[in-house]
Amino acid sequence: MNNEKILILDFGGHFSQFVARKVRECSVYCEVEPSSFSVEDIKNFNPKGIILVGGQNSTLQLPDEELVNLGYPILGICHGAKILKEYSNTNLYYIDELPSILDEKLGSDKLFYFIFNVCKCTGDWKIKDFIDLTITSIKEKVKNGKVLCALSGGVDSSVSAVLLSKAIGKQLTCVFVDHGLLRKNEAEEVENVFGKSGEYDLNFIKVDARQRFYNKLKGITDPEQKRKIIGEEFIRVFEEEAKKIGAVDFLVQGTIYPDIIESGLGKEGVIKSHHNVGGLPSVVDFKEIIEPLKLLFKDEVRKVGLELGIPEHLVYRQPFPGPGLGVRIIGDITEQKVKIVQDADYIYREEIEKAGLNKQFSQYFAALTNLKSVGVKNGKRTYDSAIALRAIITTDFMNAKCGFIPFELLEVIVNRIINEVEGVNRVLFDYTPKPPATIEFE
Ligand code: XMP
Repeated sequence: MNNEKILILDFGGHFSQFVARKVRECSVYCEVEPSSFSVEDIKNFNPKGIILVGGQNSTLQLPDEELVNLGYPILGICHGAKILKEYSNTNLYYIDELPSILDEKLGSDKLFYFIFNVCKCTGDWKIKDFIDLTITSIKEKVKNGKVLCALSGGVDSSVSAVLLSKAIGKQLTCVFVDHGLLRKNEAEEVENVFGKSGEYDLNFIKVDARQRFYNKLKGITDPEQKRKIIGEEFIRVFEEEAKKIGAVDFLVQGTIYPDIIESGLGKEGVIKSHHNVGGLPSVVDFKEIIEPLKLLFKDEVRKVGLELGIPEHLVYRQPFPGPGLGVRIIGDITEQKVKIVQDADYIYREEIEKAGLNKQFSQYFAALTNLKSVGVKNGKRTYDSAIALRAIITTDFMNAKCGFIPFELLEVIVNRIINEVEGVNRVLFDYTPKPPATIEFE
């Protein structure tokens, strides 16, 4: 890569990812490495400048004197500034405040000054260049090989699949498993984009495994057991399909940069454990993993998706858990319960989108509680289920606050759900932040 690069050295305290996002927002490419990154590695990386980042609780650790005297401009942020002040050198700059100051004018001015005036970057990190470069490198790597991709319909796997398809066309096979716990119409939507009627050049295989999953999940109420069954069954289905295809050379993994930063800096090929079907690669015969998005942040993945012409509804799809509606139905799962939660969720999403509120929330969905209660409909007593609605706002999904939905809109949603969804006689709104409540109900 010939782009101008900034190197971010992480001295602990969980802020490096945030700072890296801020640098990338300036259209300047950067990478995060641990503070132990060697002087030799730094020279090879050839940055225009270096940023040392440490949070308040990071351990004091002086950078190598050699690093300070290498001649690169260095900016110390927060604890990074404290560390740097041990040295006197004209090429050193400081932001003493917490990295969150970069969200304010004072902080961003200081960062801009460092990047553009001191390091003399021009801002040459463009999404289009990334796409061209990635396609070229995939072609060089794959040559005539076969590539297999587990397509979930989520942003990361969709964008990965399209990049691969542009590079190697029919050498790519995408397997999409319908586990029966997807949102309403979701399987059709994915098939419309990636299947025969879609515009992409690839082999698309949709596996309808709905009954298989329902059978395995029958009577299971424990959340972790449900997750385990869904994960294992998914691997089994995928494995069976992979066997039909035969040996492949590469397996696609939709890893993105935060996964790499979070799961141990510098170690490549880390497999997403929480978001993906962990362990998948070991059951499929392949030589190597391809991770085309491993250097991108989520919003950059979305930009790549839009640039590649992927429909907006897929690019801006909200996060959806791997076990799907399985963790949005409290207690045991039945086909009928899946239908209830699908229909209620569909109405909720439709009304939120109609009101133009969809981009205000990080995630919003309906869940089916295990509460049955007495109600009355058309003069008759009912004993039906309660649907819970949730809308949250978050950046890291570790903490989340609740989003505000105007009361009039809630009234419309509630009325539609109780009138249109059979088996529901009560709608509740969950206004609990995380913590203490998790985002999902199970
Ligand atoms: P929680 O419920 O833990 O959710 O607050 C945090 C984020 O992770 C998603 N989530 C999952 N994703 N497999 C996944 O792929 C799972 O088992 C799972 N559980 C939760 C959730 O949707 C939210 O975005």
